[in-house]
Amino acid sequence: MNQDQLKQMVGEAARDEVLKLAPGQVLGVGTGSTANCFIDALAPHKDHFAGTVSSSNATTERLLKHGFKVLNPNDVTGLPAYVDGADEIDPAGHMIKGGGGALTREKIIASMAKQFICICDSSKQVPVLGNFALPVEIIPLAQGVVTRELEKLGGKVSLRLVKGAQEPFVTDNSGWILDVAGLKIADPKSMESQINQIAGVITVGLFAKEKANILLVSNAAGVARIIL
Ligand code: A5P
Repeated sequence: MNQDQLKQMVGEAARDEVLKLAPGQVLGVGTGSTANCFIDALAPHKDHFAGTVSSSNATTERLLKHGFKVLNPNDVTGLPAYVDGADEIDPAGHMIKGGGGALTREKIIASMAKQFICICDSSKQVPVLGNFALPVEIIPLAQGVVTRELEKLGGKVSLRLVKGAQEPFVTDNSGWILDVAGLKIADPKSMESQINQIAGVITVGLFAKEKANILLVSNAAGVARIIL
């Protein structure tokens, strides 16, 4: 079974999971290739939900293409659930996210939700976060100062560039992303607040406060449902 099939399988499991929610509510929808599988699997059941709130322009586009209603988060007071992938997840449900650059909106929508349902294949499960370079979204003019602060934490910092080009990758919020390699994140909560406090940081892609509550994880044997 290849990784695409594993993503599809967990996307379908997430569809079954959210269809257990009472109908007529608003659902939070994440970003990335696994979230895309979930959106596609949920499309035939879109009327179960009053609407969605989306974590990126790419997800909005996909939701609209399928005929989902996409609401402005400012018009929504709470969500029963937010469904999204992760770049890494530890045994407590803390995650690294932002490989696709949508970390800020993902964290905002996750913070509105009662439960975070993380969907991934088992390659994303790690004992300690940090093999995947930690994405940090910043205000562009703070690149120099934030880079120096992140280096003090022991990371190797690089500015994310557009694939195959020399210009910076620009987020949906007009921010830039610094990817911080080489961190061993033993205490995700304290590192999240420490990095959040650096002036010029918009969001760090550590999801410790907004950790996963339910993990749906696929491998060749099937999908496991883990309460965290
Ligand atoms: C998007 O910014 C990310 O947080 C994604 O949720 C994460 O990178 C997982 O993406 P994949 O499902 O494509 O691996």
